[in-house]
Amino acid sequence: MSRQSQNQIRAVISGTGADLPEKVLTNSDLEQMVDTESDWIVQRTGIAERRIAEQDTSTSDLAANAARRALKSAQIDPLDIELIVVCTATPDMSFPSTACVVQMKIGAKNAHAFDLSAACSGFVYGLDLADGMIKSGRYKTILVIGAETFSRIVNWTDRSTCILFGDGAGAAIVQASTEDRGIIASYCGADGAYADTELLAVPAGGSTLPVTAENVKKQLHKITMKGREVFKLGVRIMPEAALHTLQMAGLTVEDIDLVIPHQANLRIIEAVGERIGVPSEKLYINVDRYGNTSAATVIIALDEALRSKRVNSGDLVLLVTFGAGLTWGASIIRM
Ligand code: COA
Repeated sequence: MSRQSQNQIRAVISGTGADLPEKVLTNSDLEQMVDTESDWIVQRTGIAERRIAEQDTSTSDLAANAARRALKSAQIDPLDIELIVVCTATPDMSFPSTACVVQMKIGAKNAHAFDLSAACSGFVYGLDLADGMIKSGRYKTILVIGAETFSRIVNWTDRSTCILFGDGAGAAIVQASTEDRGIIASYCGADGAYADTELLAVPAGGSTLPVTAENVKKQLHKITMKGREVFKLGVRIMPEAALHTLQMAGLTVEDIDLVIPHQANLRIIEAVGERIGVPSEKLYINVDRYGNTSAATVIIALDEALRSKRVNSGDLVLLVTFGAGLTWGASIIRM
């Protein structure tokens, strides 16, 4: 594809940050909690450990810490932010939004703020939204955050789900620029036919099944998942989304310097890499250290990759994700 014409507005990621709780929950710790074995977890998921937020830490605390680091790396003032989008499935509460709490915590008084619900696809959805809003000319500076405390919605007696998830947050400052970089192609999809199944959901706590003693007793306010089916969907949907977005950009996978897939399971990541034809050295993996942090995985990974210089200015990065809904999305960014 030809490079952009001069003066075209692009949405550029000018800074990133992340926050991972200090507390580490290892597979050996899980062996003490449920009937499982560390080797089984590593073989089936690739996960060795995950981070767990302290009880007095909310999603907004992780989000605000990640945002402060992103502001620092972009070298901008919180007052420059015009919009805050917090992508999360584990908000501080139903309402007010976690984004409003973050606005207060980081002192971004000039921003309006809302949460975005797209489960594990949240950050890519948020980036897509920011891209559109910046290209419309209405916004110059948007803060997009993926932040989760899944430890609060995990059923710690269910060995098939509690081994998978962790807490964490990542943030990106997205700014208008006429430089020849930024978001090149972005694509999101959904299939609500999967929404009312127990494929991947937290059934209670909303209007369908309000919080009642009975629902809580049945653990319906916690994650329920059909792991094998979710696995198959991920392996099919993420490559489709990645290839579609490459096509939109007029690029091939050989043009991409680093692919950052949603970090749900190492076997899913490797299958995605194989299906889109990307060599393992171009596939970013940190699921071993953090597990699945849902909406935060891809931005935590991008922040790590930038800070460790695995990704450098001018490199092409492909983010690809899928999650409950179903939702999916991919984004190609020139850094
Ligand atoms: N330790 C030991 N055994 C376990 C276990 C655990 N933590 N969890 C499940 N098992 C058992 C099951 O009970 C089952 O036993 P059975 O055959 O006697 O019934 C056996 O392992 C195989 O279960 P299965 O579900 O087929 O295993 P799997 O290879 O599919 O791995 C997951 C299970 C959950 C790890 C895997 O399906 C997965 O990662 N799915 C995707 C989940 C995901 O990414 N969700 C978020 C998407 S955004």
